[in-house]
Amino acid sequence: MVLKAKDVTVVFGQGENQVVALNRVNLEMNKGEFVSIMGASGSGKTTLLQLLGGLDQPTSGEILVSGTNITKMKEKELAIYRRKKIGFVFQQFNLIPVLTAEENVTLPLLIDKKNARIAQQKAQSLLELVGLKERRHHFPSQLSGGQQQRVAIARALITEPSILLADEPTGALDSETSRDVIQLLKKMCGDLEQTCIVVTHDPFIAAYSDRVIILADGMIQNEIHLDSHSDIEKNVEQLQRILVHRLR
Ligand SMILES: Nc1ncnc2c1ncn2[C@@H]1O[C@H](COP(=O)(O)OP(=O)(O)O)[C@@H](O)[C@H]1O
Ligand SMILES: [Mg+2]
Repeated sequence: MVLKAKDVTVVFGQGENQVVALNRVNLEMNKGEFVSIMGASGSGKTTLLQLLGGLDQPTSGEILVSGTNITKMKEKELAIYRRKKIGFVFQQFNLIPVLTAEENVTLPLLIDKKNARIAQQKAQSLLELVGLKERRHHFPSQLSGGQQQRVAIARALITEPSILLADEPTGALDSETSRDVIQLLKKMCGDLEQTCIVVTHDPFIAAYSDRVIILADGMIQNEIHLDSHSDIEKNVEQLQRILVHRLR
C-alpha cells in the first residue's frame, strides 16, 4: 500500500465560522492505482488532495505514505516529502511564463540541485513522450491549453514521484483536449507504475480510473470500482447513472 488516510478530519475557522472540510475520512491506495475523486463544489476534494500532497496538515487523523506518517513531519521535512515523492498538476497549469517549456520541465530538478545537463536531457525525453518535442523552446503563451497541460504533466513527472496528484487537470480544457490529456496522464502513470489521484467533476474523465471516490460534505459517500481497461463509454454510463442524483 502506498497511501493510507486514517480518520482524517480538517476543520477551518473557529466558532460560528467553523467549517468541517473533511470529516473522518479513511482511504487506502495501492501502488499503480489510478483513482478519481468526485463530489460537488465544496465537498472537500481540494482539501483532501492538499493533505495527501503535504501542502496542509489535518486537524486530526493520520496520513501514511509508504508507511511514513507525514502528519508528524515538521514543515522542512514536509517540503522534502513534497519535492521527492509528489507530483502536482493544477487546473491552471501554473507554468512560469518567462521560461520555455523545457525550462519549466527542468525546474523541479534544478530546485533539487540536480545536474543541469541531466535535467535537460530528462526534460527533453519527457517532452518527447508527451508529444511536444518540437515545441520545447516555446513559451507557455505560445502553446495551447492542452499543450501547456502536457508541459505541466512532464514537469510533475520529472522527479519520478511515487504519487501524482491532479486537481481538476482538465477543468480549463475543451472536452476533446480533456480526453487527450487524461489518456496521456493515464498512460504516463501506467508506464511509470505511479499512483495517480485526479479530482474531476467530469464523468468522461473519471471513467478512465480504476476507482472513483465520491465525497459529500467532507465524507466518503460512495466508492465505485471500474474496469479501466474496458469500454470507456460503458464506464461513463455507469458513472452517470450513479452520479445523477448525487452531484449538485
Ligand atoms: N483555507 C480555508 N479556509 C476556510 N475554509 C476553507 C478553506 N479551504 C477550504 N475551505 C472550505 O472547506 C470546504 C471544502 O473546500 P474544498 O476542499 O476546496 O472543496 P472542493 O475542492 O470539493 O470544491 C468548503 O466549504 C470551503 O469553503
Ligand atoms: Mg477544489
